[in-house]
Amino acid sequence: SFIPVIISGGSGSRLWPLSRDAHPKPFIELPDGSTLIGRTYARASRLPDVEQILTVTNRDFLFLTLDAYAGEHGVENAKAIHDTFLLEPLGRDTAPAIALATCNIAATHGPDAILLVMPADHLIADEAAFSQAVSKARQLAQTGRIVTFGIVPDHPETGFGYIEAQGNDVLRFVEKPDAATAEAYVASGRYFWNSGMFCFTAATMLDALQRHAPEILAGVTAALEKARHGQQGETETLEIARAEFAATPAISIDYAVMEKADNIACVPVSCGWSDIGSWAAMADLIKPDANGNRLNGETVIEDTTNCFVLSETRLVSLVGVNDLLVVDTPDALLVAHRDKAQDVKSVFNKLRAQG
Ligand code: GDD
Ligand code: MG
Repeated sequence: SFIPVIISGGSGSRLWPLSRDAHPKPFIELPDGSTLIGRTYARASRLPDVEQILTVTNRDFLFLTLDAYAGEHGVENAKAIHDTFLLEPLGRDTAPAIALATCNIAATHGPDAILLVMPADHLIADEAAFSQAVSKARQLAQTGRIVTFGIVPDHPETGFGYIEAQGNDVLRFVEKPDAATAEAYVASGRYFWNSGMFCFTAATMLDALQRHAPEILAGVTAALEKARHGQQGETETLEIARAEFAATPAISIDYAVMEKADNIACVPVSCGWSDIGSWAAMADLIKPDANGNRLNGETVIEDTTNCFVLSETRLVSLVGVNDLLVVDTPDALLVAHRDKAQDVKSVFNKLRAQG
């Protein structure tokens, strides 16, 4: 069997004030009214051979997630797809989340089942290209590889993983290098960005976890053993035990497994991938007017160029300014220079530190 696994949990601090701890990035309303997680679910449903979709997320997000799935129009075969959820009592980053999915699928579908991990907060414009890459990845996964999807980098982003590849073989995986290293990688032309999607058989990932992160495998196994089954409409849920899961190391799959494993493969893919990492990327989703302004909500602008405005409830007016990002919500207003979109996360972190 082939099972897409949607992982959802990070907070998306660079999209403050729309992204909050209680309303993270996968649920932000896009200019067309959809959400990133809803689109991810629809994209998964349109892949061939999908009978079940597994979502791993925090238990607090179950209802938001079900709403997003139900509100999504592009879902193929909605009735036939079996929805299952693994509900985390708290976030432990992606290695435990992926380990949970792997152990669960191995138990329900056997070690040969193929998983496709899909982060809940990415956009993919060319779905045909994506689907083709997934087919190729499934073949490689069957040969015992952990398959990554490589994106040709266009700038030395330090927030991504880098993959040095020769054909489909991966020579090196480096998570979030420093700026100088990222620059050298991009200049060399030999590296791809890691898209954050992974394809592997349950057996391959169990083996990798056993080798490189045995504490995670042990913690997750214990937490799954004590999990409580439940039902939410047609949806099957499994609530992961808190004490055992809280004791599992919090680390991403990239550091825990991908940097260490020697059986990584890479399928290069050019599918209009974006992880909507900042307001600048979100702005790109809106068609600009003749002066490069991208406006969403009630706005009046005068002598203004290259600005992005998102206004949720009030009229927002700009006069004689350039290159600004303006996001207005009922209880917070963000005004940032376009070139500083990445730094919005420090506002989020300051607010979080203040409680
Ligand atoms: N269930 C669950 N639990 N999901 C989680 C958790 C968790 O504790 N933490 C994060 N996630 C989800 C996020 O919602 C996101 O969909 C995905 O896992 C990846 O987590 P991020 O926190 O967004 O990772 P990143 O962006 O810093 O880095 C990863 O993605 C990059 C591409 O976007 C890495 O895989 C990089 O190598 C990669 O380049
Ligand atoms: Mg991310």
